[in-house]
Amino acid sequence: MGATKVYLSTLDAVVDPAAATISVFDRGFLYGDSVYETMRTVAGVPVERARHLARLHRSADGIGLGIPWSDDALADALARTHAATGNDESYVRMIVTRGVGPLMLDPRRSEEPTLVVIAMPLVLPDAAAYSRGISAVIVGTTKVQGGMLDPAIKSGNYLGSILALRQAIAAGGEDAILCTPTGEIAEGATSNVFFVRDGVVCTPDLQAGLLAGITREVVCELVVALGLTLRTERVLPEQLRAADEVFLTSSVRGIMPVTTLDGRTVGNGSAGPITVRLSARYEAYLASLR
Ligand SMILES: Cc1ncc(COP(=O)(O)O)c(C=O)c1O
Repeated sequence: MGATKVYLSTLDAVVDPAAATISVFDRGFLYGDSVYETMRTVAGVPVERARHLARLHRSADGIGLGIPWSDDALADALARTHAATGNDESYVRMIVTRGVGPLMLDPRRSEEPTLVVIAMPLVLPDAAAYSRGISAVIVGTTKVQGGMLDPAIKSGNYLGSILALRQAIAAGGEDAILCTPTGEIAEGATSNVFFVRDGVVCTPDLQAGLLAGITREVVCELVVALGLTLRTERVLPEQLRAADEVFLTSSVRGIMPVTTLDGRTVGNGSAGPITVRLSARYEAYLASLR
C-alpha cells in the first residue's frame, strides 16, 4: 500500500491530493506554460536528480522562466514529498509553472512561479512485459514544425505526444514513435528510441530535435561500458523497421523492448540479446544507487 502526496509552493506544505488545488488562473493550467521532470526513486532518492534538475533549468531557460528556488530547496521539496508518502519508492514529478496571472497571454504579468511536486507509489510494468516487449507504431504526427518550440524543452505542453499516442492506439499499438518534420525518427511519446543492427547500438542524434533523455544518456554510457559500439546518427523509419532489436528508454520504465513495430515482429518477438544484456546492466546500475 502506498500513498500519494503533493507539495505546493503556494502552501509551502505537503498535502493530500484532495487538498492539492491550484488556481484556474495558473498559466500551467491555462497554457501549459510550465516545465517539468519525471523521476523515480531508488532508496528514496530520485535517480539522477542532479541531471534532472539541470534539465529543468535548461527547459526553464528555454521558455524564459526564472526558477526562484535553489537546487537545494528543489531537492528538499522532492525529499519532503516522498517522505510524506511513506512509500518505499516513489514516482516523482516536479512541475514549475509561470504562476498565476491575468487572463492574457503576456508572460510578464505573472511574477511568481508555482512549484508542484507529486509523489506516488512507483508502479513498474511487470517482469513479463519487459521480456515480452510492447508494440509501437511510427505515427504521422511529427515533432513541432518550424522552431515554434524546441523539442529539447520539457514543457508542460504534451499535446503533440498525446495526439501521437492517440494515433498509435488507433492503429492497435501501445506506444508511439514520432518523426521529425523531415521524416527522421525522433523519439517515443515519452521516451527515447534505440535500435540494434548487427550488434551495433544506434539512437537518433540530438540534432534531429528530441528531448535529451536522462535514461538515454545513462544507457549510452552503459553501451560503451559494455564494450559495444554506439552510434548516434540520423535514423530513418526503414532502418528502425529493419532492426534486429528496438527498445525505448525513460526514467520510469527504464529499458522497454519493442517487439512489434508497425504490426510486424521485431527480431524473434521477445526482448533481444543485447537489450537483455543492457537491461541487466541498467538494473545493476540502479542497484548500485542503494
Ligand atoms: C518526449 C520525451 N522524450 C524522452 C523522454 C525520456 O526522458 P528521460 O529518460 O529523461 O525520462 C521523455 C520522458 O518523459 C519524454 O517525455
